[in-house]
Amino acid sequence: MPEPLAPALAEVRGLLLGDDLVRAVAAGRRRGATPRAPRVELRPVEVSAGRRVVVTEQRDGAAPLTRTLDAAALPGAVDELLAEPFGNWHVDTRSATVQLRVTKKGEAQVHRGAPAATAVAAATHDRAKRHRLAPDDPLFTAVGANAAKRRQVDAFLGRLAPVGPPPPADRPLRVVDLGCGNAYLTLAAHRWLSTRGPVRTTGVDVRDDVVAHDRALAERLGEEGVDFVVDAAGTWAPAEPPDVVLALHACDTATDEALAQAVRWGARVVLAAPCCHKDLRRQVDARRREAVTHADPSLRSMLRDGILRQRLLDTATDALRADLLRLHGYRTDAVELVDPEHTPRNTLLRAVRDDRSAPDGLAGEVAATCEALGVEPALARLLRA
Ligand SMILES: C[S@@+](CC[C@H](N)C(=O)[O-])C[C@H]1O[C@@H](n2cnc3c(N)ncnc32)[C@H](O)[C@@H]1O
Repeated sequence: MPEPLAPALAEVRGLLLGDDLVRAVAAGRRRGATPRAPRVELRPVEVSAGRRVVVTEQRDGAAPLTRTLDAAALPGAVDELLAEPFGNWHVDTRSATVQLRVTKKGEAQVHRGAPAATAVAAATHDRAKRHRLAPDDPLFTAVGANAAKRRQVDAFLGRLAPVGPPPPADRPLRVVDLGCGNAYLTLAAHRWLSTRGPVRTTGVDVRDDVVAHDRALAERLGEEGVDFVVDAAGTWAPAEPPDVVLALHACDTATDEALAQAVRWGARVVLAAPCCHKDLRRQVDARRREAVTHADPSLRSMLRDGILRQRLLDTATDALRADLLRLHGYRTDAVELVDPEHTPRNTLLRAVRDDRSAPDGLAGEVAATCEALGVEPALARLLRA
């Protein structure tokens, strides 16, 4: 279905500027207009000074023009290219392939699909060496994070990188980590986002001993612009709504509380890696055999045995969460956080508010899934409240 062009190009912009980019090509032309080059390709490269993006413009009758851009020069160059009347953009990232075609009416026809095999290979190849914060960063030593936690935090930052918004012009970026625990992610995200401009970060946790520990830690590290509060994800009421909401392994429905709050606040970016999916399991197990016999026949074989039931309901929980976010104006994807060998809780829901209306029929699909399983997810309940 065609979409408005400006938000679709903004989505492409986010991918071109993100750390996940593998390759992008702009080509073709729009009706009645000619871009400055018939084809432009962007490819990131690692050089000793860090990451760069090589932009190669083909030119009619002349050798291609190649520029190598650093992080400071890239946004301007990308904006210039997006302003050119190219007819097509093809973007490969490590987590998705996005193809945008401009229709005769000047709208965008966008296909969003799985990453290309070459992009997956690139991701696997360099996953080990790409770090947002170095594994020996003193922060990790101070918070006592083990290697598995470091990998999760680094992977989380890697997923945040393409969508993490820059601070607004007139104030610091407001970030909250709900269910912050020992503040591994809170402090790492604060450190990393602060490299882009001023940030105020709040960690929220229900446990006062945890929050006391986090406050002492932040003070010991001399970290500025971070505070911690004792509260529940679903009740914490900040003076001003956060721009970015994070939740790494917030227990069970604490993830739903975090997502519901993020929607209410109208947060621009939400990243949640759920864990301990008990909500739907509780509802299904409460009805035991009847839950199986009354479930949609297509699901019964997956509900009969405990371990398969758990996996089905884990997947259903996160799929419904993603769809509910889409229904509330968020472009959402579910991606792998980190190799399963490091943690089985490796699904990450990543949502960026674009206020686009949800795909036709999505509300009906969500209702049908709930009906087939005989459940009402916590997030649906919280968003209705
Ligand atoms: C598994 S730990 C994860 C901590 C941290 N995000 C991490 O990944 O290291 C879950 C944390 O969520 C907190 N928690 C549980 N329910 C919560 C709620 N409703 N609101 C806020 N925090 C909650 C717990 O106290 C605990 O510290």
